[in-house]
Amino acid sequence: CGIVGYIGHREAYPIIIEGLKRLEYRGYDSAGIALFDGKNLKVSKTKGKVADLENRIEKEITKTGNVGIGHTRWATHGVPNDVNSHPHISNSGDLVIIHNGIIENYESLKQELISRGYTFQSDTDTEVLINLIEDVKKQENVKLGKAVQVALNQVVGAYAIAVFDKNKPEEVVVARLGSPLAIGIGENEDEFFIASDASPFLEYTKNAIYLEDEEMAIIRRHKGVKIRKIKDDSLVDTYVQELQLNLEQIEKGGFEHFMLKEIFEQPKAITDTYRGRLLRNEAIIKMAGVEDNMKKFLNANRIIIVACGTSWHAGLVAEYIFEDLARVPVEVEYASEFRYRNPVITENDVIIAISQSGETADTLAAIKLAKSKGAFVFGVCNVVGSSIARETHAGAYTHAGPEIGVASTKAFTTQITILTLIALRLARAKGTISSSDFRHHLLELEMIPKKVEKALEADDKIKLIADIYKDVNNFLYLGRGYNFPVALEGALKLKEISYIHAEGYPAAEMKHGPIALIDENMPIVVIATKKGHYEKVVSNIQEIKSRKGKIIGIVTEGDVQVKALADHIIEVPETIESLSPLLTTIPLQLLSYHIAVLLNKNVDQPRNLAKSVTVE
Ligand code: G6P
Repeated sequence: CGIVGYIGHREAYPIIIEGLKRLEYRGYDSAGIALFDGKNLKVSKTKGKVADLENRIEKEITKTGNVGIGHTRWATHGVPNDVNSHPHISNSGDLVIIHNGIIENYESLKQELISRGYTFQSDTDTEVLINLIEDVKKQENVKLGKAVQVALNQVVGAYAIAVFDKNKPEEVVVARLGSPLAIGIGENEDEFFIASDASPFLEYTKNAIYLEDEEMAIIRRHKGVKIRKIKDDSLVDTYVQELQLNLEQIEKGGFEHFMLKEIFEQPKAITDTYRGRLLRNEAIIKMAGVEDNMKKFLNANRIIIVACGTSWHAGLVAEYIFEDLARVPVEVEYASEFRYRNPVITENDVIIAISQSGETADTLAAIKLAKSKGAFVFGVCNVVGSSIARETHAGAYTHAGPEIGVASTKAFTTQITILTLIALRLARAKGTISSSDFRHHLLELEMIPKKVEKALEADDKIKLIADIYKDVNNFLYLGRGYNFPVALEGALKLKEISYIHAEGYPAAEMKHGPIALIDENMPIVVIATKKGHYEKVVSNIQEIKSRKGKIIGIVTEGDVQVKALADHIIEVPETIESLSPLLTTIPLQLLSYHIAVLLNKNVDQPRNLAKSVTVE
């Protein structure tokens, strides 16, 4: 979920609505707003997107008020309907809350409140929390800040919340545990902004405070921000950061969708990832997080990679690279499985956690588990200052810039880039790669951005292919070796944004099952680049052909063999095998993009998904 708040001299409404639109990547099942205009507390909420909320507000409430909070939801407790949408109001009608996260013990708290006469409109855990705060406030006769603190100490779960009392509209109380929360500070402390990330207030201020877990803040106009520990009420020093983000980075810049913009940004994103780290003239790779912990890496018995979704696919590619180049055993785990299956973790394990957002709840929990067993945890994140970046012992940022389209694209290729750098650095330190081979890799990696540009030139051709297959019900994606994870990622991209069922498979495994699905209606995307078991993949293509499947081959420039067999081919430039995923991924991203656009799907905000999943 995404949360936004404002308290100051401006009208809160446009700031909150525009802010919610920027945070819609965090969830878009429902949206809501609460405004206080000095007299009345006005709440409007609805199932659907922020645009639906805007329509509803026109009919329901006036848009005036200098204090307000807003929410865009990814449903956990309770279906996404109007009543379950946030904000939620306490029984007295005085207190109002927005919440991102889950209160796990809400049922028992609810029963207790019911026994004390409280009633509930919704099925949400959030409505329980606001009434708990109200109950504490009344019972103990304390101020809002204190009531929030006492209530949160009774809560088990995760949250980022913002609360205000209509009788004290100069003050907003916020708190975080497990879900991000940033506070933007306006000039002269005359106005404050609250948001899940800084994007909603970038045009107003570059000064922000990021709350840490288990911290709460009382924000008062003209009086500033007071941060306290939720547990023991102790005061915490405020640390104001200057934001490096700019507006341009979070706008579409002439592209029809964020996803397309981000696909086309990849040459730059990959360059930004290795800039300053890959020093080809000196034939070295330098990354502070790796150098400072080289001993840990060199002594590691194995590397365990934990991640979810697309980041997990990047982990699979990394497994091939690390084992191939650095000769270290690697396991790749879904964070959600790893954390709950009593895994064997020792002090000699190195954990690499991969996460674009740096906020994924399961990945964060896997990190905490590994740390508790004494393992060294290294983070690969895109979002600077995110929870995972802070929770890990060391790490490296991908520097891909903000990724807003829910389907991950440039995050994936930049994750592979940084993981390749790490693998190469370790290989060099261990002596498992020769110096000439190392130099060759550096040279090839530096040529990748230009080659991605070349691969992007197939866009128009891919659009035509998309048009031919947009109405099928099933797709199969096949690849071997380094390109097996790419097949998984290609299938995931298609599923996510076009809702066409797609499966990725190792090409050779096809004969153990998926081959049964093949008939003349079934398109099969086969990654068949020159350096990756080419002849074997060609045999797999023959097997498909004899069952009349439609073949879309992703091939190396100038290919003849696959061209002769396939219904369509899409060329990518030649590179070394270990780097080929950086190129073969590109046409698969474009294929899913165009199919989704042709089917009129919401490419940037596919149904039921969210970009940053801060619940387990
Ligand atoms: C969500 C997103 C995916 C992403 C996954 C992991 O499901 O929709 O695109 O790959 O979370 O997110 P992370 O931020 O940890 O990489």
